[in-house]
Amino acid sequence: MYTAFKHLHSGLRYVVLLLLILAIITAISGVIGKKTYTEGNRKLNLFTLIAAHIQLVVGIVLYTMSTMVSFSDMGTVMKTANLRYWTVEHVIMMVLAIVLITVGHSKSKKAINSAAKHKPIAVFYTIALVIIIGAIMMAVNKGFITFWGV
Ligand code: HEM
Repeated sequence: MYTAFKHLHSGLRYVVLLLLILAIITAISGVIGKKTYTEGNRKLNLFTLIAAHIQLVVGIVLYTMSTMVSFSDMGTVMKTANLRYWTVEHVIMMVLAIVLITVGHSKSKKAINSAAKHKPIAVFYTIALVIIIGAIMMAVNKGFITFWGV
């Protein structure tokens, strides 16, 4: 089960990253080109939110199973790079990114004109993408994973 969830969570990163990048490019081109906010834009932004939320749920399940997550001796956890990363740093950064995606989507949904609908997606989804890439790069730099594989 642990391995299955780890593979699912690992694979979902590509879906989240791809959808985020597409949504951001579409939103920025919508703002700059003063384009109408279409049904296609709405669906893309919604699917990105859903993918991020599925990743959150899978992440929470994985968190309860992972051998890299420990609360038994927080002193040791905080001094051990891989335990600290998966127990504390990864979760804080990823949850923050998903909250930003949720806020951006909600602001866009409530806005009444096209520019005001594109803008929060462009801003909030971009900040979330930077945080997600930053979190993945931290794990890559510490040698825990590779960016495009496991
Ligand atoms: C957009 C959000 C997220 C992305 C892109 C993401 C990405 C990743 C990646 C790439 C891995 C490495 C998988 C591997 O070793 O093959 C991983 C592992 C993990 N993630 Fe996330 N994650 C996200 C959110 C979360 C959240 C919200 C939680 C917890 C609440 C979480 C908990 C974990 C855990 C526990 C591991 C496994 C550590 C291990 O046992 O090796 N992730 N994540």
